[in-house]
Amino acid sequence: MNVMTLEMKSSTEPTQPDTDATMDVDSSVSDKQVEHKPTPVVDDVLASAETTITVRDFCSWYGSFQALHDLDIDIPGRRVTAFIGPSGCGKSTFLRWINRMNDLIPGARASGTLRLHDDDLLSRAIDVVDLRQRVGMVFQKPNPFPKSIYDNVAFGPKLHFRMKRQDLDELVEQSLRRAALWDEVKDRLKDSALGLSGGQQQRLCIARAISVGPEILLMDEPCSALDPKSTARIEELIADLRDQYTIIIVTHNMQQAARVSDLTAYFFEGKLIESGATDMIFTQPTNSHTEDYISGRFG
Ligand SMILES: Nc1ncnc2c1ncn2[C@@H]1O[C@H](COP(=O)(O)OP(=O)(O)OP(=O)(O)O)[C@@H](O)[C@H]1O
Ligand SMILES: [Mg+2]
Repeated sequence: MNVMTLEMKSSTEPTQPDTDATMDVDSSVSDKQVEHKPTPVVDDVLASAETTITVRDFCSWYGSFQALHDLDIDIPGRRVTAFIGPSGCGKSTFLRWINRMNDLIPGARASGTLRLHDDDLLSRAIDVVDLRQRVGMVFQKPNPFPKSIYDNVAFGPKLHFRMKRQDLDELVEQSLRRAALWDEVKDRLKDSALGLSGGQQQRLCIARAISVGPEILLMDEPCSALDPKSTARIEELIADLRDQYTIIIVTHNMQQAARVSDLTAYFFEGKLIESGATDMIFTQPTNSHTEDYISGRFG
């Protein structure tokens, strides 16, 4: 699955944006780095999944700074993939390419292959409004609109579809039920979303994301601002949603990655060091650097 090979060069010249194939490797990684071998997919749950997102030789830059180097990974459909790795290793950068949020950042660019099924996500021809309907995103800090609970969820469907009021009401209810929030808000749909607790706001943001019928849900540290109880509810929600959506979650919480994901990808300094079935990554990582990180020896 993951066929990344890190080549070492003796040169210490800075990597040029247009360089491809061979990249300088930071010595702190290469000390421990052996040629990367993909972790075998022994997990039936993964083996039976179809690839939704294909990533090959994927690189990305902010101006002259290269944030991601030669990523190779297949993201399985209707499964949960966890991105782990220390702060600044490029997890959010990669996530933002999948729904083209980096388009909003001047100087951000990418090369290589990033495909959603057969669609080239790096193509200029891609309709980003349409893409963001297919690829929803939930952020670290819940960010409901300063509108009512109902209007937060109805916002996307109103933008994308022509719907009768009754159908819209049903869709709002269905989305809130799916996000395990309906029972808590059904009597206060017209109240401001800003009056909800942080955990409720995060579930509202998930309801808002799924209301437009996306195929993929990107979650960038969705629980890091939440207490343990709210975190547990979001994790239950991820377990409920995983049959229907392709989910990618970024987390600094190793237990959470181990609990919720089928596939885990470990990033370090913009490189994808190792990816594979979560059970394997957490019990028998092939790379000692991965082992050091997940066992808390650094990061
Ligand atoms: N808008 C930007 N402009 C320039 N550099 C950026 C920008 N956003 C991120 N970077 C840089 O790209 C690298 C990767 O950052 P990114 O936010 O993707 O890391 P991360 O793994 O998500 O970290 P964290 O766990 O702290 O959220 C970092 O060196 C960061 O400073
Ligand atoms: Mg981040």
